[in-house]
Amino acid sequence: MRKGQLTKIAVFASGSGSNFEAIAEQITQGKIDAEIALLVCDKPDAYAVKRAEKHHIPVFAFRSKEYSSKQEFEQVIVKKLKDAEVEFIFLAGYMRLIGETLLEAYPEKIVNIHPSLLPAFPGKDAIGQAINYKVKITGVTVHYVDAGMDTGPIIEQESVRVSNDESRETLQAKIQRVEHELYPKVVKQLVAKTVKEEEIDEKARVN
Ligand code: GAR
Repeated sequence: MRKGQLTKIAVFASGSGSNFEAIAEQITQGKIDAEIALLVCDKPDAYAVKRAEKHHIPVFAFRSKEYSSKQEFEQVIVKKLKDAEVEFIFLAGYMRLIGETLLEAYPEKIVNIHPSLLPAFPGKDAIGQAINYKVKITGVTVHYVDAGMDTGPIIEQESVRVSNDESRETLQAKIQRVEHELYPKVVKQLVAKTVKEEEIDEKARVN
């Protein structure tokens, strides 16, 4: 990290991109010392891409079927991330397992948000799973990404109460309200921690 420069991050999304926008807005308001250098999106028609354009954030949108393997498209993504000097990756509704190529290029620097209290309800439709189980409490988890499906060390969690007459839509709205507060908070903390660690390293190098 160069003195006086913002930490560059990337956000990966596949859908609406409301979490991406929550982070982008806090950055615009000067609440997080970071810059979103790239939005990576595996669905070129996703609304997340429109949100990025509105914020003048560069986008790499791709279709996985245009590549012969995950390794091939992840190599392209890594090149784009490195060219943009990205230090941290935040997955925000990116509905793909991260492969070895990205994990090796960004060890302990990839973070995900998931709409349940992991390890409960990993994978797709965590909100639907919570409704079907009739759980009384679910929530949101932010965690480091490893090779598993919604596994990896947990960074932060927040609970959400499920009412008796809860529908998928009302629960999703409650969860997203929590996500839009929690994710930017974690982004801010991790970016600040990285800057501090780099300053300590730099001091040690100079002395
Ligand atoms: C979010 O609720 C996020 O937690 C979930 O996708 C949604 C994306 O919404 N992610 C997962 O389920 C990952 N397993 P958004 O596109 O509006 O940010």
